[in-house]
Amino acid sequence: MKTHAFRIYKTGAPSVMKWEQVELADPGPGEVLLRHTAIGFNMVETYFRSGLYPLPGLPAGLGVEGAGVIEAVGRRVKGLKPGTRVGYAGGGPQGSYAEARLISAAALIKLPAYIDERTAAAAISKGCTVQFLFNQTHKLKKGETIVFHAAAGGVGLIACQWAKAVGATVIGAVGTEEKARLARRHGCKHPIVVKKPQDLTDAVMRITKGVGVDVVYDSIGKDLWQSSLDSVRRRGLVVNFGSASGTPPPLDLAREGTQKSAYFTRAAGLNYMTSHEVRKASARHLFRMIKSGAVKVRIGQTYPLREAAKAHRDAAARKTTGSTLLIP
Ligand SMILES: NC(=O)c1ccc[n+]([C@@H]2O[C@H](COP(=O)([O-])OP(=O)(O)OC[C@H]3O[C@@H](n4cnc5c(N)ncnc54)[C@H](OP(=O)(O)O)[C@@H]3O)[C@@H](O)[C@H]2O)c1
Repeated sequence: MKTHAFRIYKTGAPSVMKWEQVELADPGPGEVLLRHTAIGFNMVETYFRSGLYPLPGLPAGLGVEGAGVIEAVGRRVKGLKPGTRVGYAGGGPQGSYAEARLISAAALIKLPAYIDERTAAAAISKGCTVQFLFNQTHKLKKGETIVFHAAAGGVGLIACQWAKAVGATVIGAVGTEEKARLARRHGCKHPIVVKKPQDLTDAVMRITKGVGVDVVYDSIGKDLWQSSLDSVRRRGLVVNFGSASGTPPPLDLAREGTQKSAYFTRAAGLNYMTSHEVRKASARHLFRMIKSGAVKVRIGQTYPLREAAKAHRDAAARKTTGSTLLIP
């Protein structure tokens, strides 16, 4: 069948994304043909598109997350049939920026009746990231205080609510007053508008009475890395899990390590989402958080799929809040 998808032939500005007609074969063994109804935009796709993160090869599809309805199944596919509603994040090659695609059945997560497809596409990647950051990178506990960067973003709003449900206090870094109000409404106790890196460190030291926080979750990288290091308490943990402003500079372990003997980690999803089973268990945990009402997924903006390049531009310009969807 014929469908449309984005391809990139070289990395660079959003204009490298090309909307093309593509021919899909019948699903092979273990594969399904999935018609997307919603596609989750993730910041990481801007890193792959720009060349900040390497792609396995070119030309390449783009997009790690989507949800939709199965149209056809190949041989040896069990438990899924035409009409089944599913979502996914990762678990195979990129290519979710497409009206329809072939995908391994093993990567798909069946959606319970209470998760609609837009919620799935808005939440699976971002929510499963929060799930591992708060359960595996560090077991977040009641009474702890954390810094969470981009607190009004897709990952950020889920994180604020999840941390509040655990009983932790969130100091959230945001870019504007409007984002601060949004983060507060989602459980962030101390939203801080950060105009320059020192704003964050000053606020953290004021709120924690000079002690610093237990954990800093830094997804901004380059621009705020030093303030992340300066905001942690003695023997606390600094987690870098994203590069919205560029990758963090090399760590001067002798200097930074000696100051507070803090722990440092780069939490890359691929070292946590190590199998389809792990991915599905993480999604089930997320779905329970949504079902309980502890986490509400906010879709801040939607774009027609064909206008995905605009979503990339708006995200880079820090215009988005909550999750962003591309709609075929
Ligand atoms: N490690 C993993 O496995 C994993 C998985 C998912 C996501 N992530 C990371 O988590 C972060 C959030 O992802 P998301 O998709 O939910 O995006 P997002 O938070 O909705 O959007 C990014 C936000 O980062 C902030 N930001 C600060 N400096 C920026 C800059 N120079 N350029 C662009 N944005 C800047 C902006 O918020 P303010 O204006 O409020 O500062 C912006 O809205 C990203 O860094 C992403 O790479 C990591």
